[in-house]
Amino acid sequence: MSRTVYVNGEYLPEAEAKISIFDRGFLMADGVYEVTSVLDGKLLDFAGHAKRLERSLGELDMALPIEMEDLLEVHRELVRLNDINEGMIYLQVTRGAPSDRDFAFPDPAETPSTIVLFTQNKPGLADTPVAKKGIKVISIEDIRWGRRDIKTIQLLYPSMGKMMAKKAGVDDAWMVEDGMVTEGTSNNAYIVKNGKIITRHLGTEILAGITRNAVLRFAEEAQMTVEERSFTIAEAQGADEAFVTSASTFVMPVVEIDGAQVGAGVPGPVAVRLREIYLEESRKAAI
Ligand code: PDD
Repeated sequence: MSRTVYVNGEYLPEAEAKISIFDRGFLMADGVYEVTSVLDGKLLDFAGHAKRLERSLGELDMALPIEMEDLLEVHRELVRLNDINEGMIYLQVTRGAPSDRDFAFPDPAETPSTIVLFTQNKPGLADTPVAKKGIKVISIEDIRWGRRDIKTIQLLYPSMGKMMAKKAGVDDAWMVEDGMVTEGTSNNAYIVKNGKIITRHLGTEILAGITRNAVLRFAEEAQMTVEERSFTIAEAQGADEAFVTSASTFVMPVVEIDGAQVGAGVPGPVAVRLREIYLEESRKAAI
């Protein structure tokens, strides 16, 4: 079934949606994005995604070409038009389409930003059997640029990382810089040791996940101990549990790292419990 998508103020059938070949998103990866999950036809943590979008745009001197409250309505309208019960909404804002290719940014008064949103229908997203088995990861060197706190659309290396994982017969890759794990290709990484949840501290080296923020809050509310610091692959392999978080996977257990089984090699109790709490609380707060 053809989707209805949103492009610069218009709702269109996906085949009719068009973007200029001069768009800086296309030519320079000059843009930012957000992925917001949908459960029960409602948006999870829209406010968190909106805030991070504003921050990403601000860091790149880019303007949001729509009011934030209207953007919420666009999300809701796309959910309605495409009849999404479980899935995601992808949003992308680029620095627009100037009349020619040029490294210098165009004058925003002459070149408005481009905004695109579309839905991804994923029935069974919350109840996926993958979460019951857990995923396997390999480690790869993190060679991305130095501003990973900005959610830019430059996703070539994360895509290559997923392909390296696929080639190795596993599900994903954890990236390592100066011997320490930064994050997964499209998620934040965690380990659990003696009941303590350990995840890298925020900084320019990783993306401040919206799911991470919620999960750490729920963990503390459930009297679990959280330590925000970096860790090595060896420490992760020797941990009791490991997991990742993102808008598309929620809390996903990791059961193998570079061929070494983590803990009992099955999803651990902390990850399983956090997934339950996250889904339950997020559903309650969804709008
Ligand atoms: N990825 N780190 C990276 C590098 C990411 O790309 C993502 C999200 C996260 C988790 O952020 P959040 O919890 O806000 O989803 C961490 C999205 C889902 C994607 O690219 O599809």
